[in-house]
Amino acid sequence: MNANCSTSCQFASAARSVADWPVGQIRRVAATGPDGEVDETKRNVLKLAAVAGLLGMGGAGLAAGAIQYAQPPQIGVSSYPSVQLIDLDGSPLTVTRVLQEYSFETPDVILFAYPLRNEPNFLLNLAPPPGGSGGATNVVGGVGPQRSIVAFSAICQHLGCPAPAISYYPPGTCPQTPGGKSFYIHCSCHGSTYDVTNGAANLTGPAVLPLPQVTLDWHQSDDTLWAVGEVGPPVNGHLDTLTGDYPVGSSVQLTKQSAIVLCNFSTG
Ligand code: FES
Repeated sequence: MNANCSTSCQFASAARSVADWPVGQIRRVAATGPDGEVDETKRNVLKLAAVAGLLGMGGAGLAAGAIQYAQPPQIGVSSYPSVQLIDLDGSPLTVTRVLQEYSFETPDVILFAYPLRNEPNFLLNLAPPPGGSGGATNVVGGVGPQRSIVAFSAICQHLGCPAPAISYYPPGTCPQTPGGKSFYIHCSCHGSTYDVTNGAANLTGPAVLPLPQVTLDWHQSDDTLWAVGEVGPPVNGHLDTLTGDYPVGSSVQLTKQSAIVLCNFSTG
């Protein structure tokens, strides 16, 4: 031991490996030269090599972690399930109640997830309220006695803004209409609009694709409503609509939000 060691002796006496040292603290610890002096250069080279090795191992670990989280989870379903819709109060949703509680004038955003938990969809009834007039019936993909009940993805096909930033607007909400259409979904993020009477075909950009449409099945035997499939492009943000989160299960309950209304679209 070098009798002249001063402040570094506390480290020289400790039984620690080079791996224990903090980066940037190269100390007099190991071998001494023939004259009893510490070979600073040799030890520093060894030390730096050890630190570089540790950094390399750590870097590899970080890279592996980054790859793990950069890839979407490979979870989902192998085919479209049949999922029963449940009303806001917890009871099975019936077409009769949909026709009573919702109409083309309903400003609320009614949502349900399908087929995965992170895939929200609008539920719309475009028929008039009981005893009323107007609305839209016999629409593309519509179910119920007037083929007025439809469901579409509530994630915009442009950059993926979800409801309620993207919302159905009852006629008269905005002073203008996209392409002269009265029944549409509007994304307030950048102004895309979709025709809810025609499979959510794109009316105004910047989006160019339609919203995916959920295939609904009306069980007339008990009047219940089920989600059984989806048509159109994949849900935005998913490589395919069936992959990217856990499935919702055999039933899913509606939720309600307030729409965000911004009339920031062109007339098409
Ligand atoms: S995200 Fe909807 S228009 Fe851009």
